[in-house]
Amino acid sequence: MRYFLETYGCQMNVADSELVAGLLAGCGYQRTSDPLNAQLILLNTCAIRDKAEATAQSRLGRFAQIKRKDPAVLIGVLGCMAQNLGDHLLESKPYIDFVLGPDRYRRLPEIIARRQHDPQHIVDTRLSRFEVYDDLFPSRAGGINAWISIMRGCDKFCTFCIVPFTRGRERSRSLDGIVAEATEAVRQGFPEVTLLGQNVNSYRHEEHRFPELLQAVAAVPGLRRIRFTSPHPSDVDERMLQVMAGHQNICKSIHLPLQAGADRVLRRMNRTYTRDQFVALAQRIREVMPGCSISTDIIVGFPGETPEDFEKTLEVMRVVQFDSAFTFKYSLRTGTKAAEYEDQVPETEKQTRLEELLVLQKSIGLARNLALVGRVVEVLVEKQSKKSAAQWAGRTDGNKWVVFDKGSARIKDFIQVHLDGSFGVALKGQLVNTPEDYHAVA
Ligand code: SAH
Ligand code: SF4
Ligand code: F3S
Repeated sequence: MRYFLETYGCQMNVADSELVAGLLAGCGYQRTSDPLNAQLILLNTCAIRDKAEATAQSRLGRFAQIKRKDPAVLIGVLGCMAQNLGDHLLESKPYIDFVLGPDRYRRLPEIIARRQHDPQHIVDTRLSRFEVYDDLFPSRAGGINAWISIMRGCDKFCTFCIVPFTRGRERSRSLDGIVAEATEAVRQGFPEVTLLGQNVNSYRHEEHRFPELLQAVAAVPGLRRIRFTSPHPSDVDERMLQVMAGHQNICKSIHLPLQAGADRVLRRMNRTYTRDQFVALAQRIREVMPGCSISTDIIVGFPGETPEDFEKTLEVMRVVQFDSAFTFKYSLRTGTKAAEYEDQVPETEKQTRLEELLVLQKSIGLARNLALVGRVVEVLVEKQSKKSAAQWAGRTDGNKWVVFDKGSARIKDFIQVHLDGSFGVALKGQLVNTPEDYHAVA
């Protein structure tokens, strides 16, 4: 059987799709990149904002056309929208064969087999307190980075967010299981791993917490780069920072979602930190690790956010100087606490705030990049530059993209680049040594 699998949403979904691909490969299924050529079409969905759900709905419309031509094709919906909408999906889209929530993927082979002769549609969105897929091996497409899921679920219940409902309660994998997977990733040729979790740093398994896990992964022989995402600011502690600072192979880059700068809004979001605590944390990070990159997520137009509140978000951005920011207009998610708030902000106002925020972040990001010009940095060569076939693109330890002439450098090489400029979010530079020197580095 040939299957087509398309993934939307965050890296957790990407990692889950690799687990699904591993499961299906184990049953002898072959993957195809063409839905027209598949007998099984799987869509791994996201529900974080309106737009994510709208995208999934429109992809399903497309797949329905394929099924109309060939009714034997099976269509399965996985992931967070599947979990969120469950049965309701079948009401509007009766052509869907099965709907599986993120904790039910083990059932896939059985469900596919059953649905081939059973007229009953299958919806299974039970969440588990234990499922971490510790024993399943992901099937990775190759490349530079291996995603390693270390914990699942979220217990934070930020009032805007659907994730605690779509992913269920927090639970973590064993430290040994994670270290084994990282070791295997190195053996397969990945120079980098990214540890994943909805709240990656609330990792806890038996007596192990996130700092010990980081330390154990950093000790994996041959692992050159370790990243992790997303940490919650309230779960960052001094030990975590010391472990990061103490290991050369843990990248000096932290994603620290701010969401909003006004204490009143943070409280209504249930973010569990104040503006001052957040700013102090960012300062401490750069004290312990000078030059550490800090990226963030920000929501504009959360219910009740006034122009003065929004001004405080801009103010925190000026103080912290984020290297980059993912910015979102608040999107109402039915079932969350904030959906009940009556003081929703009009769409046009959200749009104006978003644009203001983008302009500010653009100038801050550029200034942060320009401050690096003139330095020599280590870059991991990842892919060809989109702009020119004669250039590579790679990232620094601080998660910044650098574009440079290829010379004799190859993909997966760690090379030294002299930075000589920045265009927007990326930097550009020149290979430092003569190209021949890089053969040995590879
Ligand atoms: N667990 C991660 C967040 C995952 S969702 C964390 O806490 O960092 C990624 C980002 O999407 C969030 O940080 C938030 O900025 C944004 N987001 C979540 N729910 C949203 C909503 N209802 N509307 C707009 N943005 C939202
Ligand atoms: Fe959502 Fe908050 Fe959990 Fe992040 S910490 S996944 S924003 S509820
Ligand atoms: Fe989306 Fe689910 Fe990730 S809602 S952002 S795919 S956890």
